[in-house]
Amino acid sequence: MLIKKPADIKPSEITPESVYRNRRQFMKEGATLLAATAAGSSLPMSALGQDGDALKARAPAELRRSAPAAWWETKFANIKPAPDSEPFYTGESLTPYRDVTSYNNFYEFGMDKSDPSRRSGEFKVDPWSIEISGEVARPGTYQLEDILKPVDLEERIYRLRCVEAWSMVIPWTGFPLADLISRFEPTSKAKYVEFETLVDPEMMPAVNSRFAIVDWPYREGLRMDEAMNPLTFIAVGLYGNYLPAQNGAPLRLVVPWKYGFKSIKSIVRINFRETQPNTTWNDLQAQEYGFYANVNPMVHHPRWRQDMERRLPQTLFSRQYIETRLFNGYADQVAHLYKDMDLSVYY
Ligand code: MTE
Repeated sequence: MLIKKPADIKPSEITPESVYRNRRQFMKEGATLLAATAAGSSLPMSALGQDGDALKARAPAELRRSAPAAWWETKFANIKPAPDSEPFYTGESLTPYRDVTSYNNFYEFGMDKSDPSRRSGEFKVDPWSIEISGEVARPGTYQLEDILKPVDLEERIYRLRCVEAWSMVIPWTGFPLADLISRFEPTSKAKYVEFETLVDPEMMPAVNSRFAIVDWPYREGLRMDEAMNPLTFIAVGLYGNYLPAQNGAPLRLVVPWKYGFKSIKSIVRINFRETQPNTTWNDLQAQEYGFYANVNPMVHHPRWRQDMERRLPQTLFSRQYIETRLFNGYADQVAHLYKDMDLSVYY
């Protein structure tokens, strides 16, 4: 995020209205997509936007790579659709699959928006384990299967607002972080949750780059009440299918009222603490990136105004700008968390 580079993406197609208008139909198409993927055939265009050529060539292998095991298929065949109302559904056009999966920030693969999708070919998620540590009654290293088997997958359609002033609307598949946290029984001393991303130079080509600006692992954190808020989500998929590597496979955080950098990808450690954890962007530039990072049109970043955003997809000839809303439009659900705080100080 420290480096500005003009987006270099091709014209995108809008996901057909029917895909997101009719929720049940959409979920059915997600299941078809899964079956098609498992069978190695091409993907249904209706679920992916009309420009499917690039995807036909790329997505099946990409998605297979992200699929850790057969038991996931059963899980993904049974996703509870998002309701047709806020806050788990926005009513806005979905950002097409192609844009969601090719315009990414995942610095472990490089700093260009296209690096994560282009350079994640070696990324594997099986086996995958997550260390649970700190102030919990049940610390330990858990296999992904043990973490995911008991959860019921559901769909959430959220806005994602990056501090770089672009935004998307993404149909995530996953489960509330609160459900996961409760299973490990945090102690009364657990006031914050800290997350860490995998560091693996073999699979993540930019972590050993001499141009890397991040002190790996990528770290993020939330206050416990933020982590337990019903909006806070662990995504294991998008568009009804497995999370591609570039979007944070096999599991990532999604905190829709905060700037995108809080939504840490490819998590391998969740640590419960009494004190506020250090976080990657705050450590790099505390004046620019706060710990809270709540979307706020009144508090500008030195290089990006925060009162407007560029909604993706865009073409060279048409860019859609919309007004940014406080807490990214989720004020009803989260404003109470910050009621006694000066948001220009705790940005
Ligand atoms: N997580 C890790 N591990 N590394 C990263 O570079 N980038 C963050 C966040 N999570 C990042 C990360 C930023 S800046 C944003 S905007 C979102 O991921 C982007 O998510 P997306 O690529 O799925 O849209």
